[in-house]
Amino acid sequence: MWKSYCTISLLYGVVFCNSVPRNGVAPLITLNDGNTMPSFGLGTWLGFHNKSGDTAEEAVDAAIDAGYRHIDTARIYNTERDVGKVVNKKIKDGVVKREDVFITTKLWNDKHAREDVIPALRESLELLNLDYVDLYLMHWPIATYSNGTVNDNIDFIDTWERMIEAKRLGLAKSIGVCNFNISQLERLINKSGVVPAVLQVEVNLNLQQDELRQYCRDHNIAVMGYTPFGTLFPDKATPNSPPPRIDDPQLVAMAKKYGKTVPQIILRYLFELGVVPIPKSIKKERVIQNFDIFDFELNEDDRKILKSFNNNFRTITVFELWGNSINYPFEINEKKTK
Ligand SMILES: NC(=O)c1ccc[n+]([C@@H]2O[C@H](COP(=O)([O-])OP(=O)(O)OC[C@H]3O[C@@H](n4cnc5c(N)ncnc54)[C@H](OP(=O)(O)O)[C@@H]3O)[C@@H](O)[C@H]2O)c1
Ligand SMILES: *[C@@H]1O[C@H](CO)[C@@H](O)[C@H](O)[C@H]1NC(C)=O
Ligand SMILES: *[C@@H]1O[C@H](CO)[C@@H](O)[C@H](O)[C@H]1NC(C)=O
Ligand SMILES: *[C@@H]1O[C@H](CO)[C@@H](O)[C@H](O)[C@H]1NC(C)=O
Ligand SMILES: *[C@@H]1O[C@H](CO)[C@@H](O)[C@H](O)[C@H]1NC(C)=O
Repeated sequence: MWKSYCTISLLYGVVFCNSVPRNGVAPLITLNDGNTMPSFGLGTWLGFHNKSGDTAEEAVDAAIDAGYRHIDTARIYNTERDVGKVVNKKIKDGVVKREDVFITTKLWNDKHAREDVIPALRESLELLNLDYVDLYLMHWPIATYSNGTVNDNIDFIDTWERMIEAKRLGLAKSIGVCNFNISQLERLINKSGVVPAVLQVEVNLNLQQDELRQYCRDHNIAVMGYTPFGTLFPDKATPNSPPPRIDDPQLVAMAKKYGKTVPQIILRYLFELGVVPIPKSIKKERVIQNFDIFDFELNEDDRKILKSFNNNFRTITVFELWGNSINYPFEINEKKTK
């Protein structure tokens, strides 16, 4: 069933107007290079606590059947082969056309050297069994040696220049970065003259990224939000991580009122902020549930409640790994939250 559908966030000046079926096709966002990107995707990082035997295959299969047209993977996740296998099968079976699915992958930190960037992308394409990706992202502004040690001799501007070349070669339709802060984005844009199409960063109730999102709006950079659930679930909550948890009374009451689940309320909130959420689940029913957010709208009072959880707490800090890099992107005060 199709109906004309608009979402207007007065607070942020974001307007989505689209004809979407009630049960969901995510509206398309036009990127600054003219390409379009579905405003909701499936994450496929299996996590710190993945069990042997975990795979993204069933999730990707369920996702495409449920209407997802955007899958997020990365060289480091070890899920490119699974993603490619399912996507190619769905194309072969006539469920989707290649041009209707948006596939993102990422350059890992140990391939930042000029001569490594394009070969790394070609390797990802081989694993994905695709001729091009829709989006290639630099995973971090930090370069490392292959043993994981920080290598500050490589400038991310050089890495970016090779990504620009990858786009020129048609290996990636669009290019962008992850985990860059405002000064790093500014330097990237100033030096290369090429504005990333997408910034992928952590965005969730605890880390709503108002300043960074404003910068991206001003520069026409789409914001993709990773770890959209923050520390909502036990897999990422630590004893000192701030609320909310999945059983938070305010969120539970709100979910009940809309006839939705707490994860759906959160994903809807991010969507209304203009962020492209990429929740990960390997469980079919959750994959389906997470996508079912296009048939309701939050009211202003509820948005205020959701806004109130914002406290600059970062779930993914990587300080222990790369805090010594000159390109470590996050605030000093955040480094102390873990
Ligand atoms: N660029 C970067 O540096 C970066 C960093 C982190 C993440 N990412 C991307 O962002 C994606 C999402 O972030 P994330 O994986 O860190 O975390 P997330 O999507 O916020 O949370 C994933 C966790 O939530 C659980 N879950 C998902 N939906 C649920 C539901 N409806 N009910 C109950 N539990 C649910 C999942 O468990 P089950 O799987 O068991 O359902 C999993 O434990 C990643 O997969 C990756 O693609 C990018
Ligand atoms: C699961 O996690 C382990 C340890 O972090 C990692 O070495 C392994 O590659 C992961 N498996 C997949 C499929 O990502
Ligand atoms: C990692 O490799 C670099 C470059 O080869 C080397 O300088 C560094 O000592 C190595 N670090 C570790 C912990 O092995
Ligand atoms: C980028 O360029 C602008 C405008 O020329 C300038 O104001 C700003 O300081 C530069 N920033 C960086 C980080 O180079
Ligand atoms: C961004 O990261 C760089 C490198 O660590 C740091 O010097 C700079 O202060 C950071 N800028 C912001 C706005 O956080």
